[in-house]
Amino acid sequence: MHNLAVFASGTGTNFVAIAKACASGVIDARVAVMVCDKPVAAVIERAREMGVESFVFDPHAYPSKAAYEAEIVKILDSKGIELVCLAGYMRIVGDTLLKAYEGRIINIHPSLLPAFKGAHAVEQAVAYGVKVYGISIHWVNSDLDGGKIIAQRAFPYEGSDPEEVHRLGQVIEHELYVETINTILCER
Ligand code: GAR
Repeated sequence: MHNLAVFASGTGTNFVAIAKACASGVIDARVAVMVCDKPVAAVIERAREMGVESFVFDPHAYPSKAAYEAEIVKILDSKGIELVCLAGYMRIVGDTLLKAYEGRIINIHPSLLPAFKGAHAVEQAVAYGVKVYGISIHWVNSDLDGGKIIAQRAFPYEGSDPEEVHRLGQVIEHELYVETINTILCER
């Protein structure tokens, strides 16, 4: 049984999709820990409902990013984490976490990378008049949304409502994240 960590900052629909897939045996792993950097995020309640241990850190309570991440690394090490899945974790991963876990951290992003990196990918794509949207899953390195792409899935959309793009994209995200985690774990 593999040990996963899921990092999230918000609603946590990807966290729930991954945790459910683990609980039902679709992924041969367990979510050993959910790490959250927003003390009021809805994902914390989702983790409680699903019986997943969560660690909530306020990065501002630490003297530096390195100190904050060193605390997280301690927890990941203690849980024997093999793969870290960033799922709406809206924070740039720093050197401390990268040094300890590079090659074992993946991220999901709501665009066809390398287009539209950063926190407002869907809004920027809509403003640009994009007609084919998509989801990317990539390895995390020190470049923002810049690591090697593992999986992508595209979908057509001709409208101009970012909320609708988010909704359409999230359905794909949940499937693609589960499939991709399975592929990575099978290759180990
Ligand atoms: C997801 O759509 C994910 O692609 C995005 O945050 C959302 C989190 O949703 N991530 C990024 O924009 C990273 N740059 P969730 O909390 O419902 O899983």
